Amino acid sequence: MDAETKNILQEITTHSADETIAFGRALAESLAPPKLVLLRGDLGAGKTTLVKGIAAAFEAAAEEDVTSPTFTLVHEYRGPRANLYHIDLYRIDTLRELETLGLDDLRSDNSILLIEWGEKFPRLLRERDVEIALERVSEDVRQIRILR
Ligand SMILES: Nc1ncnc2c1ncn2[C@@H]1O[C@H](COP(=O)(O)OP(=O)(O)OP(=O)(O)O)[C@@H](O)[C@H]1O
Ligand SMILES: [Mg+2]
Repeated sequence: MDAETKNILQEITTHSADETIAFGRALAESLAPPKLVLLRGDLGAGKTTLVKGIAAAFEAAAEEDVTSPTFTLVHEYRGPRANLYHIDLYRIDTLRELETLGLDDLRSDNSILLIEWGEKFPRLLRERDVEIALERVSEDVRQIRILR
């Protein structure tokens, strides 16, 4: 899907990590499972910070317990209404490596996959339900767009 055919559902600007977390909490209301969500944005854009708010809203993890799955690649947070899988594909470069993660096995009626750097793989771009694009405007300011 190219940029022109994407729908911008919502666009906001946050001025601190806490504001981004609060936005993640609010956003969670529109993320009923099952969902495949792509989180896009450069290093330090705030993707993991946003997941803190989403996981907290689902009562799946405390904000401070949500950390970057940089090395573990997949973090699982189980809540009463959904199982969240926070995935970081920054270090995954080939389809073969992607397949070893078994993301398809994580998809179920009550799962929400939150994937950082998933846009590297056309298959994930095709299959995503929602895309959240974060852009660093300045030190503490981020522009966040929800795209469908
Ligand atoms: N408005 C803001 N929203 C989100 N994070 C902010 C904001 N202002 C400052 N920050 C800081 O920016 C950093 C964002 O880091 P975070 O780990 O969330 O980024 P990321 O997009 O997941 O990066 P990576 O691709 O390396 O995993 C944090 O240190 C956070 O405190
Ligand atoms: Mg991250």
